[in-house]
Amino acid sequence: MSLRLASAGESHGPGLVAILTGLPAGLTLDRDAIDDDLRRRQEGYGRSPRQRIEQDRVEVLAGLRHGRTLGTPLALVVRNRDHANWTWGMAPWPPEGEPTGKGTKPVTLPRPGHADLAGVLKYGHDDVRNALERASARHTAVHVAAGAVAKALLAAIGIEVRGAAVDEPGLQARIDEARADRDTVGGIVEIRATGVAPGLGTYASKEDRLDGRLAAAVMAIQAVKGVEIGDGFALAALRGSQAHDEIGPDRRRSTNHAGGLEAGMSNGEEIVVRAAMKPLPTLMKPLASVDLATGEPGQALVERSDVAAVEALAVVAEAAVAWELAVAARDKFGGDALVDFVAAHRAYVDRISWR
Ligand SMILES: Cc1cc2nc3c(=O)[nH]c(=O)nc-3n(C[C@H](O)[C@H](O)[C@H](O)COP(=O)(O)O)c2cc1C
Repeated sequence: MSLRLASAGESHGPGLVAILTGLPAGLTLDRDAIDDDLRRRQEGYGRSPRQRIEQDRVEVLAGLRHGRTLGTPLALVVRNRDHANWTWGMAPWPPEGEPTGKGTKPVTLPRPGHADLAGVLKYGHDDVRNALERASARHTAVHVAAGAVAKALLAAIGIEVRGAAVDEPGLQARIDEARADRDTVGGIVEIRATGVAPGLGTYASKEDRLDGRLAAAVMAIQAVKGVEIGDGFALAALRGSQAHDEIGPDRRRSTNHAGGLEAGMSNGEEIVVRAAMKPLPTLMKPLASVDLATGEPGQALVERSDVAAVEALAVVAEAAVAWELAVAARDKFGGDALVDFVAAHRAYVDRISWR
């Protein structure tokens, strides 16, 4: 059985849901560790006031008993506290009574850079909200909760995953200037995973290459427009003699240009994945758009929005990398029970004499 994740949830709907299948039984989860990652996702300079409303917490509806997984599907929920302001506008069932609160008027001015235009055309909506609510990065909250579960599984075999915004002197000043101009910014994040034994992933089929899976998972996060592994794009300008990590007598490398991945497999060195985030598309000084109801030129929707979410992206990408590593580890080491998973990993590292 493989590890799988499905999620549902709109930005201002009642809540976000994730169902995780394939987790070994007997994994101890720490509620505070999951909530801590949810809190980290909400922090960072340049976030919108919504983060003060939400204060995300995980709830578990199934798959856990007394803090240990049962080997059955794990159901996680993160409620949207802001839904209280949208109970009419985002009611799952036809609402009763007069329209009240937010989201009562159809949105007809699509934002460039968002899901709005292609989303309504594709699904046949006449209210842009029907597209933007799911496309919003709000649901990354429940993916971060799933990532925290993945990190617990990885910790059992000595793997640690951590993401951070790439240190940029003046990031706060850049954000302050953008805010003053009613504009937005992007940035770069880096995710590192330590303790990964060689041989997760494979060169045998392209779908299972770990570099491809990591890149796809990180690229699929909202606003990510570039992903690189190790020295990535910079490698293109180097010679082979400068670019590759020579193998020492202990089979370790003194450099890590490859970012811990060769031929779609972990090679035992630190895994390094970087992602570039575009400037966020909701601008307080809106870009040109068209009113889809009238065909008249207009200005794009202005809705409460982050000026920057780079530090939040670091947490979301950390969760995505952790999830993909957990999938690859579960594929390699199996295990309906955690003890089997850990024992298979130990037997493998003993066989290859890897420390
Ligand atoms: C953590 C996080 C927070 C985000 N917050 C916002 C936001 O407040 N406003 C906004 O316009 N876009 C925000 N985005 C980006 C949009 O969701 C994204 O640009 C949009 O869904 C279109 O997808 P694309 O950029 O991948 O093409 C955020 C993305 C992430 C990862």
